Amino acid sequence: MSSESDSASGNNDYGKAKLFVNDKLVSEFDVVSDSMGSEIAILGSSLRADGIKNIGSPLSFYDPGYSSVASCSSDITYVKGDGDKGLLFYRGFPIEDLADSCDFMGVSYLLFYGDLPEKASLEEFGDDIKQYMILDEQIADFLNGYRRDAHPITIMHGITAALSSLYIDIDANDFSKREQIFKRVLAKMPTIAAMAYKYNVGKPFVPPRTDLSYAANFLNMMFSSSLDESEPNPVFVKALDKIFSLHADHEQNASTSTVRMVGSTQANPFSCLASGIAALSGPIHGGANEACLSMLEEIGDVANIDKYIAKAKDKEDSFRLMGFGHRVYRNYDPRAKIMRSICHEVLEQHEDIDPIFELALKLEEIALNDEYFIERNLYPNIDFYSGITLRAMGIPTNMFTTIFALGRMPGWFSQWSEIYEKGSSKICRPRQIYTGNLQKNINL
Ligand code: CMC
Repeated sequence: MSSESDSASGNNDYGKAKLFVNDKLVSEFDVVSDSMGSEIAILGSSLRADGIKNIGSPLSFYDPGYSSVASCSSDITYVKGDGDKGLLFYRGFPIEDLADSCDFMGVSYLLFYGDLPEKASLEEFGDDIKQYMILDEQIADFLNGYRRDAHPITIMHGITAALSSLYIDIDANDFSKREQIFKRVLAKMPTIAAMAYKYNVGKPFVPPRTDLSYAANFLNMMFSSSLDESEPNPVFVKALDKIFSLHADHEQNASTSTVRMVGSTQANPFSCLASGIAALSGPIHGGANEACLSMLEEIGDVANIDKYIAKAKDKEDSFRLMGFGHRVYRNYDPRAKIMRSICHEVLEQHEDIDPIFELALKLEEIALNDEYFIERNLYPNIDFYSGITLRAMGIPTNMFTTIFALGRMPGWFSQWSEIYEKGSSKICRPRQIYTGNLQKNINL
């Protein structure tokens, strides 16, 4: 059994699972549950050795999309999606409580260190991060290689990968080295994201300020000029801080699994994070908040909603309602509930309601009462409300996924760090079912 399987031992009371192929017993596996008693896993990594021995041909589990595969054991985040209520816990704390009483720095500290900080530790942590926010000049020069209209997530991806050339020979087995890199990651990412935006709009970059909070600093770098000493709107600062916290981790989604997979090769942590950004950028993962806004713009008017709902239900049509549905939550996404109320607080800052918001609220109401969506448990997810909120804060649509990536950094980093913490360093190497040609001969 691999070290990964050894550490997946929340509760061993589930006995054995037996696998028969053509009525022949091929293998027996231990069965364990997670510490919550909600997920039960067959410890299957011995299958290949036993399977080969018993039936003479190699066996594997075929599961594209990995919906029935637990790829690791982790102490960081718990997500439960079936039953009455969607649950999300970071290190055992419900997301609702964290959203009420903790800011993004506290959430980041919690994810990485495993517990909530004392006041003094949190201050020290935040101050350390502020020290490292400036980007090295050589790395900043990278920006000039991009087209002016390059998508900010593409720039963030490239520059994050480039940071791996600066932070080399990191002894990832040493916790203090991982801690140093964690602080630098949190520090540099908002600067990179804001620079990408300023580069896009052709304006000079505004450096970080030590007197501002993490979220305020980011908004200031995005929207102020270097001569401007005012502070960003506190309602927007609070909303952005919550957006970061709500996105901070979400167990083994596509981007986090990518970070872990690249991490399993012992690659540089910045390369691992860059791979996570790439995975996140797709429109059905982190790109959904942008795709949702584009969809609302395409729908254009409340009068067109029925036509688009019909398209979403039509199996011949590839159109999907962006911002609806989730692989894990087959009920309401708990983050969406919190995001919805933040969204309303931000909307209240505007005297005139943007027609896009009215359209979004109407679409939400219609979809929530439609049989197709009810039967399939398709509820608005976090991206539905975060997109609308960010737009109401004046953030351009092409920055939405980048903001998601900023929020996800502590989660990705903590998941990467956990590979070393748990000593589960087995390289990820899935099998495949080959469906190509049989052997061919070259006849020249
Ligand atoms: N609009 C219309 N129909 C949908 C939608 C949707 N947004 N999502 C799922 N369905 C239907 C799907 O066609 C299928 O119908 P049927 O059973 O008749 O074939 C059924 O619901 C189950 O869907 P699925 O594709 O098996 O579900 P999945 O778990 O593979 O996909 C998802 C999850 C999030 C990729 C999908 O719901 C989707 O594409 N949603 C829109 C994109 C989106 O908002 N993504 C952000 C997710 S939250 C952020 C994150 O964690 O990344």
